[in-house]
Amino acid sequence: MHKLIFVNLQLFAGSEEKWQEWLSKANLSDRGVYVDMPSDSEAKQLLNMAAKLNHQPLHEFLRNFGIFTAPRLIAQFSHHIDKNWDVLDFLEHTEDYIHKEVRKQITGANPPILKASRLDKDKVMIRYHSSLRMCPFAEGLVEAAAAYYKQKVLTSQPKCMLRGDAECEILVTRA
Ligand code: HEM
Repeated sequence: MHKLIFVNLQLFAGSEEKWQEWLSKANLSDRGVYVDMPSDSEAKQLLNMAAKLNHQPLHEFLRNFGIFTAPRLIAQFSHHIDKNWDVLDFLEHTEDYIHKEVRKQITGANPPILKASRLDKDKVMIRYHSSLRMCPFAEGLVEAAAAYYKQKVLTSQPKCMLRGDAECEILVTRA
């Protein structure tokens, strides 16, 4: 997990005490946010523990974390976002215009490859694969992106790694 997301997780904790509690209960208390980035297995450990301490199922925690993080990511990469896009154009082009740029510009960042297809003017299918299995985080990003564009969308997941599929399919439909 790159520190860009790690720092957002620290902000999402809401207080230094809570953040330290998450780290220590996940056995990561020696981690300095600005020094070390957690490995994927440490990140999973931390996310699981944070969800547990927040009394939320992991998928709900990750979705809320996505909703929280999206406005910051969008603000940070706004110069790569075409002003004429709507939310579905944004999702269709996230991989080519944003995640690809993130990999080029930010050392150590490796966002997942998103394979998006525009099924028709009101539907985008996003295929996602990652060992972190953070599809609820992706759904939260989609929900917050729709709010950013003041548009309404519905999401469903015909396929999901958390249900044993080889990849996730996130279908986003204009509501
Ligand atoms: C302005 C828009 C966006 C920016 C700047 C952005 C950037 C990033 C960055 C920096 C990471 C961390 C990479 C790492 O840990 O090495 C990340 C992770 C992730 N991104 Fe994006 N992202 C954006 C939009 C989206 C959208 C729209 C989706 C999906 C619909 C998405 C899906 C994900 C997921 C699921 C992860 C978690 C890591 C994983 O599953 O492996 N992102 N993104």
